[in-house]
Amino acid sequence: MAPGVVLYEVGPRDGLQNEPEVVPTDAKAALVGRLAGAGLTRIEVTSFVSPKWIPQLADADALARVLPRPDGVVMSALVPNEAGYERFRAAGLPVAAFFVSASETHNRKNVNRGIAEHLERFRPVAERARADGVRLRAYVSTVCGCPYEGAVPVAAVVGLVERLEKLGADEISLGDTIGVGHPRQVRELVAAVADAMPLERVALHLHDTWGRALANVQAGFEVGVRTFDAALGGLGGCPYAPGAAGNVATEDVVDLFERAGIATGVDLDALVDTAAWLERDVLKRRLPGRVYRARLGERERRARRREERS
Ligand code: HMG
Ligand code: MG
Repeated sequence: MAPGVVLYEVGPRDGLQNEPEVVPTDAKAALVGRLAGAGLTRIEVTSFVSPKWIPQLADADALARVLPRPDGVVMSALVPNEAGYERFRAAGLPVAAFFVSASETHNRKNVNRGIAEHLERFRPVAERARADGVRLRAYVSTVCGCPYEGAVPVAAVVGLVERLEKLGADEISLGDTIGVGHPRQVRELVAAVADAMPLERVALHLHDTWGRALANVQAGFEVGVRTFDAALGGLGGCPYAPGAAGNVATEDVVDLFERAGIATGVDLDALVDTAAWLERDVLKRRLPGRVYRARLGERERRARRREERS
């Protein structure tokens, strides 16, 4: 069955940028290989941002040299400016992902520039991307609220979507960076954005701080969104957005859609194996994903029963 939704895996980037420890480059490459092996076809693998700002992803250039590149898997990386684009081009990835916040203060904290200046500096990068045949994804962050300013007007989000579309964004991902959004808000936001950009080119990127990310995925689907960003095991967070929890867990989104009869093309068991490997062998900390934890619990109970019987 052809997938009815696209899951855009951001764990290697949004997840690992926020870990307290730096994950070794070969473990990052292995993670991407396992995610692709589980059936994920769109994966954000790293960031070409300043290594001073995000030391966890300072090995982006080295990672690109050892990254598995399976057929049919389209990989992106964050690119904030021209210096990042040079590194991105050397890495030979097909999709550059720009990011800008809908609130001025978060933008300044995140990229050291106001929104207008950040967009202007990106313009030549967007032009080069078009000439180079590189696809452009663009995140609009803080769409449901800002950690510094509070409420963010829908008009600010729509205005940015229009500007990014004009700059040449092929796809726009609406980021609830601090996970404060709720289903009614998501429905209203998507309806407003749909006037500026066809929904086939719009994704939702939902963090789970308030436990509403999965409800927001459902709400987004009901109003026509078909691409959802998610991170293995519920990894994720923005170091410049205090208090933000991880992304909606990829396993939770797969489970939600598959149980509704909507194919995702992703193998849930392979994701659970990958999350268990990452938790046990790499991060050495408990991952929060709900479906992951429930499936692990089920496996452990089954193994205990088998042991008791033998
Ligand atoms: P800056 O310090 O203002 O940079 O940082 P600058 O242009 O003034 O340059 C200063 C130095 O940095 C120079 O080196 C540059 O060459 C170097 P020096 O001359 O001093 O030796 N530099 C770079 N080096 C490598 N790669 C680069 C680069 N750029 C400059 N790309 C900058 C400005 C934008 C670079 C910085 O603020 C930055 O890297 N910010 C990124 C922060 C970040 O990654 N945040 C998390 C990702 S966004 C997110 O998580 C949200 C999202 O998930 C969606 C959602 O949830 O809403 C996407
Ligand atoms: Mg994020």
